[in-house]
Amino acid sequence: MIRRPFAEMASVGVAVPPGILTNHDLTRMLDTSDEWIVERTGIRERHIARPDQSVAMLSCEASMKALEQAGHTPRDVDAIVLATATPDRLLPSTACDLQALLGAEKAMAFDIAAACPGFLFATGVAEGLIAAGQGEVVLVVGAEKLSTITDFQDRSTAILFGDGAGAAVVRRTSGANGRGILSTFLKSDGKLAPLLYRPGGGAMDPISEKVVCERSHYMKMAGREVFKAAVLTMAEACDEAMRRAGVSAGEIDLLIPHQANIRIIEATAKHAGLPMDKVMVNVDRYGNTSSASIPLALDQAIGEGRVKPGSLLLLVAFGAGFTWGSAVIRW
Ligand code: COA
Repeated sequence: MIRRPFAEMASVGVAVPPGILTNHDLTRMLDTSDEWIVERTGIRERHIARPDQSVAMLSCEASMKALEQAGHTPRDVDAIVLATATPDRLLPSTACDLQALLGAEKAMAFDIAAACPGFLFATGVAEGLIAAGQGEVVLVVGAEKLSTITDFQDRSTAILFGDGAGAAVVRRTSGANGRGILSTFLKSDGKLAPLLYRPGGGAMDPISEKVVCERSHYMKMAGREVFKAAVLTMAEACDEAMRRAGVSAGEIDLLIPHQANIRIIEATAKHAGLPMDKVMVNVDRYGNTSSASIPLALDQAIGEGRVKPGSLLLLVAFGAGFTWGSAVIRW
């Protein structure tokens, strides 16, 4: 067992594109209704990036805010770990584009593909880099333009997703200030991949006229099955993060779950034994922003005074892969 905490999450910053797509806007494009979407998902609107707003640009805005909050400049950054399901280009990584935008000359930079729990996977990787002596200051980013892989002719997925970015500074700590990442738990089950995936456009079926005509470069999802798997995996992830941190539900000040669907969030809170007033919810405003979801919720919780120095946080997420993960953090 590694001695903990040896890393802290020092700050968070976000970037949200100003464009808003409401449920009412979607009713003009699809056979759906505001009532159906709100009742089944809790989502009312989501933000959509402009074509000229890249994932790297959104990441840069979020990263600058996080760095400033933590009293750092881009020159202090030893590593950039960027989680995304929507890289700007397939080569090189969006993390390298972000490095160039930031001028983080000292850093190593790479992307990780872990879908919605990507921010938690990146946090776990950052901890590992720090533990291995690869650096002291790691920029962890979750950033998405899911609107570019969403099929706006498919009402079962088009209602769910939005764009945004979040970044956090994860840095070495001696533990003396009481803050720190007390546990992380990361898991996958590749057998569940066909429940939520993009069939075309990758190396197996490269982009072609056929792929575009079949719309197979967009996300496909078996909603009900994903729902069930999400509830089970989020429950396991909550239990494991608390067990590894040696804390009980009664000690958690705020649960910050992946914002996919209010019903999944409620089931997760119930399993974890936390009342909804100890759960951060902003799925109504952003929809599912995948790896940006947790930092967007964390940033809002800080802004609303729900996270203060010393708060004990439980972060939990699930997503395509399937992947799922969690963390207990003393803020
Ligand atoms: N508007 C209106 N009706 C819709 C609709 C929409 N946007 N989408 C689907 N429907 C219809 C279906 O066609 C179906 O109609 P039918 O009974 O005539 O066949 C009916 O609503 C029920 O569909 P179903 O898929 O069973 O609904 P659901 O209660 O499971 O809700 C989701 C659908 C997608 C909201 C829900 O399954 C879900 O949230 N799943 C998890 C998705 C998720 O979080 N993915 C991201 C993972 S990171």
